[in-house]
Amino acid sequence: MSDALRGSRIFLGVCGGIAAYKAAALTSALVQRGAIVDVVMTAEAERFITPLTFSSLTARPVYASLWDAPERIPHIRLVREADVALVAPATANVIAKLAAGIADDLLTTALLAARIPRIVAPAMNDAMYDDPATRANLATLGTRGYELVDPERGFLAERELGVGRLAAEDRILDALARALERRSSLHGKRVVITGGPTREPFDPARFLSNASTGATAIALAREAALRGAGVTLLLGPTLLDSPAGVDVVRFSTAAELRDAALARAAGADLVIASAAVSDWRPAQRSDSKLHKSGKALAVELSPNPDVLAELGERKGSTFLVGFAAETDRHEERAREKLARKHLDAIAVNDVRDERGFGTGENSLVLLWGAQGRRELGTAAKDALAVRLLDAIGQLMESGSSACS
Ligand SMILES: Cc1cc2nc3c(=O)[nH]c(=O)nc-3n(C[C@H](O)[C@H](O)[C@H](O)COP(=O)(O)O)c2cc1C
Repeated sequence: MSDALRGSRIFLGVCGGIAAYKAAALTSALVQRGAIVDVVMTAEAERFITPLTFSSLTARPVYASLWDAPERIPHIRLVREADVALVAPATANVIAKLAAGIADDLLTTALLAARIPRIVAPAMNDAMYDDPATRANLATLGTRGYELVDPERGFLAERELGVGRLAAEDRILDALARALERRSSLHGKRVVITGGPTREPFDPARFLSNASTGATAIALAREAALRGAGVTLLLGPTLLDSPAGVDVVRFSTAAELRDAALARAAGADLVIASAAVSDWRPAQRSDSKLHKSGKALAVELSPNPDVLAELGERKGSTFLVGFAAETDRHEERAREKLARKHLDAIAVNDVRDERGFGTGENSLVLLWGAQGRRELGTAAKDALAVRLLDAIGQLMESGSSACS
């Protein structure tokens, strides 16, 4: 394991489940690796294990109440001082509260206020873990940027075999180390990300658009912010929530995106252009709604500005990554775009049958230089955002690009 834990500040939430005793061994392992651990217990956790165990192991106070020294606003201070928050074991109850945004004790309130990576390691009876409510709550946490360390199959407290046992200590320590390594990778960098569709109106009620939802850009923005970057997200029309801790600028048309992107990208360290920009817009826009006449309607289209090409012309020392949504000859077309638009790298995805759009899974290949190629695989967009930023980070560090 890397040395990432040494000197790190860990917020450790302990909930009221049988596996609470394992949190003591985990705390000891963290302390032995040089981490500074602040333990926050739920009231029910104190029925299973005493605060004294944790305060002895960490040589620090253990927190349980919002109301001890409230003048120090403990729920905000604790997560601001920490590099990463871990809940282990996480009960079905706390998982449900986090998914619903309930903040009725110190642990849940602090996690709601956290702008640091949040890792949840559930542990419970297998039927509780299998229940659709718990599954839906965990899925919700996944889409909101929580990292889940799934429980394992094994001997449960009920003296039965099942899936629900707290993940092995090594897996939890690995997840923490990875989160800490990622967290510092974009520290102090300025990152601009574009995402979502454009809308090109031809009357006040109709527009030309596409199936993009901005989910990829939202996942990338959230992950870049967790890695310590100052992030601006230029986001087209979407019903998805924008991530916390990110400066969000909304656009609707390609022209609006162009103005916002050129203004914000100047001097940025990294620009990732994933917006699905319409190549055309209606040449005429009616001020009033067009009414049907029984005849065909011809709508003439004019070319839109090529926002990515303009960013490429002016990129200076910015690392510029484009996206290519293709239906055929994917990599050939993407490599041509990479060179012609002066990009440093391009992420290719297949959009046949609207694949790649929406909040489901996507498949990405990253291309750079004359031959650079890395398959990022097929995964949920949050997981792909992690892989893409890892790959981009390595390219930025090594100075590799199409233009170098
Ligand atoms: C003996 C016993 C063991 C329990 N073990 C678990 C468990 O492993 N996981 C879980 O989610 N809930 C477990 N529960 C239920 C929780 O303690 C209960 O839902 C409680 O409200 C959780 O509080 P908290 O989430 O605020 O810590 C257990 C309850 C008892 C009585």
